[in-house]
Amino acid sequence: MTAQICIGCGRESAVHAPATRCPACGGLLELRHSPPAQRGAALRGLFDGRLGSPCVPPSGVWRFREIVLPGEDAVVSHPEGNTPLLFRPSIADWAGVSDLTLKHEGHNPTGSFKDRGMTVAVTQAQRLGARTLVCASTGNTSASLAAYAAQAGLDAVVLVPAGRIALGKLAQAVGFGAQVLAVRGDFDACLSLVEQAGDRLGLYLANSVNPFRIEGQKTIVFDLLQQRGWRAPDWIVLPGGNLGNTAAFGKALEESLALGLIDRLPRLAVVQAAGAAPFARAYLEGFTRRHQLPAETIASAIRIGNPASWDRAVRAIRATDGVVVSVSDAEILAAKAVIDRAGVGCEPASAASVAGVRQLAASGTLSAGRSVVAVLTGHMLKDPEILLQGATGTRIREIDPTLSALAAALQNPA
Ligand code: F0G
Repeated sequence: MTAQICIGCGRESAVHAPATRCPACGGLLELRHSPPAQRGAALRGLFDGRLGSPCVPPSGVWRFREIVLPGEDAVVSHPEGNTPLLFRPSIADWAGVSDLTLKHEGHNPTGSFKDRGMTVAVTQAQRLGARTLVCASTGNTSASLAAYAAQAGLDAVVLVPAGRIALGKLAQAVGFGAQVLAVRGDFDACLSLVEQAGDRLGLYLANSVNPFRIEGQKTIVFDLLQQRGWRAPDWIVLPGGNLGNTAAFGKALEESLALGLIDRLPRLAVVQAAGAAPFARAYLEGFTRRHQLPAETIASAIRIGNPASWDRAVRAIRATDGVVVSVSDAEILAAKAVIDRAGVGCEPASAASVAGVRQLAASGTLSAGRSVVAVLTGHMLKDPEILLQGATGTRIREIDPTLSALAAALQNPA
């Protein structure tokens, strides 16, 4: 029903093979499912029929199970997904695009899109009989793995760059009971370590190189297409770090078109932080070579210099006539302030999408009348320090407990 195919050499392995990379060439794997019994309107009808029904489990990932992981009933689901698609005029005005909606993945159980991939990866780990799961993380993956492993009664080990991940994420990983190892190195060093550990120490790898993660993350696209009545937007814009999500979006869109869920492909726009933009640089060079560089940005979630899902992501950009851009930290913070002040809120990496929309609109790549969905990948509370440091404007003032001090403060707003 489902096979794992190497995107490098084409070698096929069984769905139950535990390796998360091709055993022959070390290439990235992707899952191929036998086509569902329905397609087109019938398949849309099947998915629509489950909306708001007490289907088991009521999840915005498993609602699409025929095209995520068919034939698996014993799923580890919170549930997750079913995130809102928001329109806020102030954000659209700022970005310069009238039809801009925000797919807010911060509304997932642990506050980021990672839950959609993790429900599938932990389900697969459970059916393989794995005991201990491992990941490297800039924070959100570790929070998500910790939660889903806890639910399944499995052990989680998470490796994070010491002192370099946002407080909310670290607190979640600790609270959900993962073994948290702060590595004296960056995310790329952590990832290289867990890839070796997976092989040598017999741990199940839950990073997005794991193709089961990608299957779950595809549902961000299915979910938003369904919310739009299966009318594809002109553009889908998302932040890019390790590029697992870019890969997932490309696969979801190609499959949606092939299955007749939509009748045309939206274009993908991937937005990187300027200090962590190896993929944006390679895009400008026509992807003739792969870049790897030391990464630095205020958006710690996407502080990644050697993205693992590179080859899959190149395919996603090519297949969707996509673009890759980079935005400065100042642009990210400006976008975040606009999103926060609209009462929506998101973490810094998520604001990169809206900063990217503004840049693409200003350069004319994205004309004002186009329909655009920008993905907000994580919740505002993931990174409380950035808010309390005053990076997006407002500062806290302390006053005496008197009416005159209150009146004085109100007369001189910060
Ligand atoms: N936005 C947020 C909030 C993230 O946490 C990440 C990645 C991304 C965007 C980029 O997604 O890696 O698929 O290109 N966070 C990972 C982590 C690396 O460890 O939590 P990507």
